[in-house]
This record gives sequence, structure tokens and C-alpha cells, in this order.
Amino acid sequence: VTGIMSDRDIVSTLALDRLAEGVLLIDDSGMIAYANSEAAHLFGKSLEDLLGTAFSLPVRTEDEVEIYIPSAQGRVLTVQMQVVPLDADGKSLSLISLHDVTTVIEAKRALEAERRALEDSNRNLEEFASAISHDLQQPLNTIAGLLQILEMNAKDRLTEDDKASIDSAVKGILRMNDMIHGLLNYAWIHAHGQPMEPVQGRKILDKAVANLRGAIDAAGAIVTFEPLPTFLGDESQLVSLFQNLIDNGLKYRSPDRVPSIHVTVDTRDPGQAIVSFKDNGIGIPRESFKRIFSTFKRLQDNASCPGVGLGLAICKRIVERHGGSIWLESQLGAGTTFHVALPQEMQMLSKGMSTAKRAAGPT
Ligand SMILES: Nc1ncnc2c1ncn2[C@@H]1O[C@H](COP(=O)(O)OP(=O)(O)OP(=O)(O)O)[C@@H](O)[C@H]1O
Ligand SMILES: [Mg+2]
Repeated sequence: VTGIMSDRDIVSTLALDRLAEGVLLIDDSGMIAYANSEAAHLFGKSLEDLLGTAFSLPVRTEDEVEIYIPSAQGRVLTVQMQVVPLDADGKSLSLISLHDVTTVIEAKRALEAERRALEDSNRNLEEFASAISHDLQQPLNTIAGLLQILEMNAKDRLTEDDKASIDSAVKGILRMNDMIHGLLNYAWIHAHGQPMEPVQGRKILDKAVANLRGAIDAAGAIVTFEPLPTFLGDESQLVSLFQNLIDNGLKYRSPDRVPSIHVTVDTRDPGQAIVSFKDNGIGIPRESFKRIFSTFKRLQDNASCPGVGLGLAICKRIVERHGGSIWLESQLGAGTTFHVALPQEMQMLSKGMSTAKRAAGPT
């Protein structure tokens, strides 16, 4: 056994003993001819105990295998083992490296357990949201139906005030329905999202504008935009993002001028694009910049301008799911610009795209 070590090997032995990697040398009779300190440490034995004992593990493979070593503290170590066959002076030896991955594996397991717990809680939340939406809608629809029957049956006996009351009750029910739908959309952004894929900005904008066609025409609004890059995202969520921002530009317009919404793009930063939606509407006071992204927070009352107060909360959640951010600038009475930073598909980065400005409106 000792014969294998030459004086020259002392240097390498000193070096090997400092390695965080266990090293064993198995001679052609299957005995441990050399072990470094880490190897002894892993097996929980002294170097003297280890040297000269038979090595019972499979040593013929060159693949990396995982072995489990019970430690004195009752812990089981997970060790990656690699065997390198050596041919020295006609003797076939095996060099074994041992790498302790117990902490890595334990951390991975803990992470996996956490991920599962999160998935469970998300699923619970989702089931909860579905149940609520279903269970709440049922009685709401019943109430709406009953009110309509009441209105029909008691038609001749109802005063104008009575009819107005029934009307506002029905409106309240419709509004509550909208809120439930909006909340569901909000709750499902993470759980029901599609995988991130390259999606052309122009396609997103076209869909958003098509969905808002009626409102755009009714407002006589002008929507203009620059050439858009290809994003890396969830198409239907990005449509919803663009649509909510354009919708707000239409809704919160100034009575004094033709509403216009201009969409611009900044692709100077590689990997991300900043899309800006600039309107010439009523503006937002600075102290409300944060509040408007919360659920059900509105600056208008429902009578003057209908809305649920979820659009921007949904936008924020969508942008966050895409690893981006959303912020705004505004001047009261002059207009508002919402900026969204979104991941951009890398191949599409070209100088021409970011500098070529082409207004393609009115739509
Ligand atoms: N472009 C804008 N100009 C002026 N005010 C805005 C603009 N966008 C949003 N706001 C203000 O922020 C509030 C929140 O907007 P958000 O889109 O979240 O809800 P909403 O438009 O009221 O309802 P909905 O859920 O139907 O979108 C609005 O009620 C409005 O007061
Ligand atoms: Mg809105």
C-alpha cells in the first residue's frame, strides 16, 4: 500500500488534503491505497482506518453516480462519486473523486417543498375565487330576475320613484357582476397565464384597438403608434394590458378637445422595451399616482364615469408577471403618460427598429 506513494507524491498529497473534494485511489486488488482528509471526513473514519481496507463500491464505471453515506450524527450524506480508471506501470488503478452535495440537495428539496406549498395555496386561492364567483353570481342573478318579475307584475301600481329604485338595484347587480368578473381576472393572472413566447407588438396593439373599436369611434378618438418590437410574453395578457391603458385614455378624456392616444416605444436598453401610452385627457394628481394601482381605487364616481377600478391593478399584475414595471407621468388638465417596461425578444433588437419613427394613424 505505502509503496504506491513516492516522495514526489507528498506535495500532491498536501495539496489534495486541502481540497473540498474527497479523493481515493484504489489499487488493482480493490484496496484503498490513498485517501485525502476530505475522503476520511466523508466516511467518518481516520485516514489510518481507511487505508488498506477493501473498497466495496462499484469502481468500474466512469459515469458519475450518487452514493449515500450514513454519518455518525445520524444524517445521511449524499455524495457524487466519479471513478477514473488509471493505468500506472501496468497496474490498473482507480481514482475516485467524492463530492458532498448534501447541502445542495437539501436546499433543493426545501425549495421544491416550498414551491409545492405555493402551488397548493395558489390552487386553493383559485378554487376559492371560482367558488366565490359562482356562488355569488347565483343569488345575484336570482335577485335580478325577481326584481324584473316584480317590475312586470306591479307595473301599474309602481310610482316613477319605485321604478327608478328597481332600476338602480338592477344596475347595482350588474356592477357587482362586473366586479366579480374583474376580480377573477385579477386572481387568475398568475395561475392561468400562458407561457412566455415571442409575440409581435403590432399584433397586440391591433387586437386591443379592435376590442375598443366601438369606444374609439364613439369618442372620435385618434390613436397613433410607432413600429412596435416583438415582446416575450403572454399574448392575451399583453392585449389586456394595452387595452386597459388605451381604454383609460378614452374614458378619462377632456371635454375640451378631441381625445388622442399616442403609443411610443423606447428600445435603447437591450432585452427590454419601454412602451408609453400618452393621452391628452384630464390628468391625474401626483398624490394619487400610487393609489390608482390598488384594487377598486378610483378617482371618479361611478355615475360620472363608469368603471370597476381594477384595470390598472390588473395591468400592474400582468407587468409584474412579465418581470417588468409600470409607472406614469401626468399633468392635471393636460394629459397622462403611462410607461410599461416589458421584456423584448433579443433577436429583434436592431437599430433601425428603434429609430424608425412612423406614425400610423389615425386608426
Ligand atoms: N389615463 C388616465 N387619465 C386620467 N385618469 C386616469 C387614467 N387612467 C386611470 N385614471 C384614474 O385611475 C383610476 C383607476 O383606473 P383603473 O383603470 O384601475 O380603473 P377604472 O378605469 O376606474 O375601472 P376599470 O376597472 O373599468 O378599468 C380611474 O378611476 C381614474 O380615476
Ligand atoms: Mg380602466
